[in-house]
Formats: sequence, C-alpha cells, structure tokens
Amino acid sequence: VKHLLSIADLDRGQIIDLLDMADHMAEVGRRPVPKVPALRGKTVVNLFFEDSTRTRLSFDAAAKRLSADVMTFSASSSSVNKGESLRDTVETLTAMGADIFVVRHRSSGVPRRITEWTSASVVNAGDGWHQHPTQALLDCFTLREALCSSDLSGVRIAIVGDVRHSRVARSDVLAFTRLGASVVLVAPSTLLPPDIASWEVDVVHELDAVVADVDVIVLLRMQRERMDQALVPSLVEYTGRFGLTPERARRLRHGAFVMHPGPMNRGIEITVDPSSLPGSLVTRQVTNGVAVRTAVLYALLEGASSEVVR
Ligand code: NCD
Repeated sequence: VKHLLSIADLDRGQIIDLLDMADHMAEVGRRPVPKVPALRGKTVVNLFFEDSTRTRLSFDAAAKRLSADVMTFSASSSSVNKGESLRDTVETLTAMGADIFVVRHRSSGVPRRITEWTSASVVNAGDGWHQHPTQALLDCFTLREALCSSDLSGVRIAIVGDVRHSRVARSDVLAFTRLGASVVLVAPSTLLPPDIASWEVDVVHELDAVVADVDVIVLLRMQRERMDQALVPSLVEYTGRFGLTPERARRLRHGAFVMHPGPMNRGIEITVDPSSLPGSLVTRQVTNGVAVRTAVLYALLEGASSEVVR
C-alpha cells in the first residue's frame, strides 16, 4: 500500500503484517544504537495543522530511527497565516523532495485530498472525527504485547466516553474487531455518533454495567474543543457515570487492562492515577507508538521491497 488513510482500508492480514513489522522495529528500538539505515535519503514531512504532542514527536522519532530526513511544518508559524492554501503548501513541500507526508488536520478527509496533489505517500495522523489509524495500530500492538497473543480473539473491550467526536474510537473499533475482539461502547446517547446502528458494537449507557466484566477499558478524552453545544449536563455528572474512579478501579476484573490514548483530562474521565493501576498500559502505548510508526513509515516507503530491516 502507498498510503495509510484509514483502518477501513486494511484487512486483518495487513494489520497483522504491520504489527509483526512493529515487533521487529521495537527490537531495533531496544538496541544501544536504535537506528537502521533503511530510509536514508528519504524525506518525511510532518504536516501538523492541529496541536499534538505524542503523535508528532513519535513520528519524528520513528523517522530518525530509520535515518530519514525530517521536516516539521507547524501551521501556527507558517505561510498558512499569510493565506497560503493547503494545496500550495503541499505542492511546495513536494517540490522540496518530500517522500511521505504525515498529516494531522481538524477536518475529516484532508489526508485523502492531499493524495490528489502529491506523488508522495500520505499517512493520516488524525483527521477531524474521522480516523487516526496509527493510534489504533499502536493500541492493538500494546494489547497483543500485554496479552502475549497474536491477535485479539475473544477479548472483550469497552471504549468509554466521547465516542462521537473521537477518531480514536472510530479507528479502534475497526481494528479491534478485525483482530477478533468484541467491543462495547459506554457513553451517554448524546456522545454517540449518529450512525451508531451500523457499527459492529454493543452499547451501554453506564460504566457500572460493564466495568467488572470486560478485559480491557479504553478511556477517551472528553473533547471539549469539539463540542459546540452542551452534550453532557455537567462534567461532575459525567465523571460520576463514566469516569474511572477509585471505586470502579477496584471492581475491574483481575488482570484487566486500562488504556488511554492521551492527552488525559485527569479528574474528568479518570480520577485514579493510572500509574497506581496494575493493569495500566498508558505508558506502554506511548513507547509502542514509536515502534508502530516506524513500521508504518517503513512499510509505505520500502514496502514493495519488503525485506526485513537489519
Ligand atoms: C488523540 C487525538 O488527537 O486524536 N490523541 C492522540 O493522538 N494520542 C486523542 C485526543 O485528542 O483525545
């Protein structure tokens, strides 16, 4: 494949191949010198029109592990502020030799549109409410690692919170179910997407209904910047029904895992310190993000020759 725009474009076998490649990249990352020459001479452009900490920096680290050159564009300090269009920006960076664009944008569909304006590969690093495929891959990778299993068959996963505004939830649901997991969404109806009937998931409206039964809980951030109307009566009430509180953490199954893509709103969707939970995978998610993004850059730029990196 040339681009990674949505988990919907990947079948189970392609997801497993990327995760297996990420296992190999994680091994590279543990070496004293965590670097291979695989993408020497290639240029990775980080094109971020929306704020990001871990996604941007982990793509940056991933490109460097592969010895690629990295150019980082941030909208806030660019000629976009002088009115330059997205298309002109992409054409300018293509003319500078970009081989791959890593794109984050607040509007859904922007990464796909960019593929029409450049010969370079495009990775979607989060577009609006739509997709964030590398987050879903790193979540799958982290669960495979935690469960010591090659896929997620038979695993019951709850995704809790602001599903409506969440590209992470849209991506996770597709990836988790393709790997054999079953998913239950836990949210008030105002925070569910309008097309929920077509999703392959169960839905409940209280975290207490499933907290003691699931193998994995994925907490989502309350996306206050995407809410143009009050969709929850109050944040205190939200925490009361959907937050991972100390009482609910005590009711988790023995061996259950807790995940959060970050950034966390402490005190809202989570009121326990995740580092105090034995099953917390939050920091593993961040560490694994680099290995997974390394695998994605490698697969898109060198995939055809697909020889394993040494
Ligand atoms: C998420 C995002 O930006 O989509 N964060 C991330 O990439 N780790 C989730 C969020 O913003 O809540």
